[in-house]
Amino acid sequence: MTVRRTSMHGEWSSRMAFILAATGSAVGLGNIWRFPYITGENGGGAFVLVYLLCIALIGVPIMMAEVLLGRRGRQSPINTMRTLATEEGHSPLWQLLGWAGVISGFLILSFYSVIAGQALAYIVRAAGGLFTGITVADSKQIYAALESDPERLLAWHTLFMAMTMVVVARGVKSGLEQAVRFLMPGLLIMMLVLLGYAMSTGAFAQAMRFLFRPDFTALTWNAVLTAMGQAFFTLSLGMGAIMVYGSYLPKRTSIAQTSITIAVADTMVALLAGMVIFPIVFINGLEPTAGPSLVFKTLPIAFGQMWGGPFFGALFFLLLSFAAWTSAISLIEPAVAWMVENHGMSRAKAAVWAGAITWVLGLGTVLSFNLWSEVTLFGKTFFGVLDYLTFNVMLPLGGLFIAVFAAWLMSRRSTVDELAIGDGLGYETWRFLVRFISPAAVIIVFLYVLGLLPLISKVFEAIFT
Ligand code: PHE
Repeated sequence: MTVRRTSMHGEWSSRMAFILAATGSAVGLGNIWRFPYITGENGGGAFVLVYLLCIALIGVPIMMAEVLLGRRGRQSPINTMRTLATEEGHSPLWQLLGWAGVISGFLILSFYSVIAGQALAYIVRAAGGLFTGITVADSKQIYAALESDPERLLAWHTLFMAMTMVVVARGVKSGLEQAVRFLMPGLLIMMLVLLGYAMSTGAFAQAMRFLFRPDFTALTWNAVLTAMGQAFFTLSLGMGAIMVYGSYLPKRTSIAQTSITIAVADTMVALLAGMVIFPIVFINGLEPTAGPSLVFKTLPIAFGQMWGGPFFGALFFLLLSFAAWTSAISLIEPAVAWMVENHGMSRAKAAVWAGAITWVLGLGTVLSFNLWSEVTLFGKTFFGVLDYLTFNVMLPLGGLFIAVFAAWLMSRRSTVDELAIGDGLGYETWRFLVRFISPAAVIIVFLYVLGLLPLISKVFEAIFT
C-alpha cells in the first residue's frame, strides 16, 4: 500500500542532503572520543571485531528500519509510532517507543554537551600554543585543570547548548546541509594528517596489532554489550534521531544504499580515530584504559610535537566540536518535532524548552567530574550511570523494539513499498536480519550480561535430562 503523507516540517532538498545530515548525526564524539577509549578499556582487537559485526548485522538493518518507519510516518517519532501502529492494526501504545527515544535523547545530550564543551575548550588551548612541547605529565595536568573546575565546564557546556539550540530553533534543514558538506571532508583530512603523524611515531605497528589482532580470551560479555551499545550510539540508532531525519526524506530514495553509505563513513572515522590515538598511547607509555579523557590526553601531545601544531590542533578541535554539534542537533530533534506537532509551539520556543531541560540535566555530569566525583550509585558516578543506562540499556532496547515493529508488526507490503528494493534477495536479507538476527543478538547479550543465560540453560538441562 502506498501512503502519501507529507511532513509538516518540510523535506530535505535531495537524497544527498539527507545523507549529509544523517552522516552529520552519526559522526561525532561517539567516533573520536568514545570509540577509542572503550576499545582501550576492553582490550582492543576482539572488541573491535565484535563492534564491526554489530555495525554490519545489527546497525545497518536497524538503520534501514528506522528510516523506513520515519519516512512512512512523516512525523516526530512519537506520532509516527502512533500513526503506524494504528494503521497496521496494533496498539497506539507503541508511541511509548517514541517517548523512550525522547528521554534517551535528553539524557544523552545532557552529557554529550559537557564533553563537546571540553572539545570547545581545547580549541582555545591549542590555538594559544599551550600544547607546544608538552610532556605526558603536562598533558594530563592540562586536562585535570579543566575537569576539576566546575565553573569552566559549566561555561563551555552552556555555550555548546546555546549553539545547538540556535540551529534547532532555525530548523535543521536550513544551513545544516551546507555546513556538513564542507566540514565533514575537513574532519576527514585532519584525521589523515594525524594519521601521518601517528605512522611516524614508531608505535604504529603495535597499535595496529592492538586494534586488529583479536584476542578472544580477553573478551567478556560486558564488553560485547558495550560494543553493541556503541554500534547503536555511533550510528544514532535506537532513539528516533534517524527516524525523525527519515521523516524528512523524499519518497523514492533508496534507503538501503543511503544507510550503507552512512555506516561505512561512520566506521571509517572511528577506525581512523583508533589508528591515530593508540600509537600516541603506546609511544608515550599512556594507559589504554585511561577512560573518557583518552582523546584529550593523547592528541595534545601530538599537536605539541607537530609542525604547525597550534594551527592544526585548533582546527582539529574545531572540527570535532562541529561534528559533535551536528550530532547534538539530531539528539534533540525528536523532542522538538513533537512539541511543534502536539503543542503548536514555534520551533524557537520548543528549542528553548528542550535546551533548558538538557542544560539542567547536564549539571549532574559537570559535577560528577569534580565536586560529586565521590558520589556514586552501584560504584558509578552520575555520568557513569547515565552512560551505562543510555548506551547499554536504552539504545539496545529501543533498537530491539524498532526491529520487532518494522519486521514483525508492519505488513510485508508496507515495508516492501517503503524500501523499494523490490521483493528480491536484498529485501529478504534485510527482513531476515531485522526479524531474527538483530533481536536475537540483543536478547542473548542482555541475558548473558544479566547472568540469566546460564540459569536458563540449567533449567533446560534439568528438564531434558
Ligand atoms: N552518533 C552520534 C555520535 O557518534 C551520537 C548520537 C547518538 C546522535 C544518538 C544522535 C542520536 O557521536
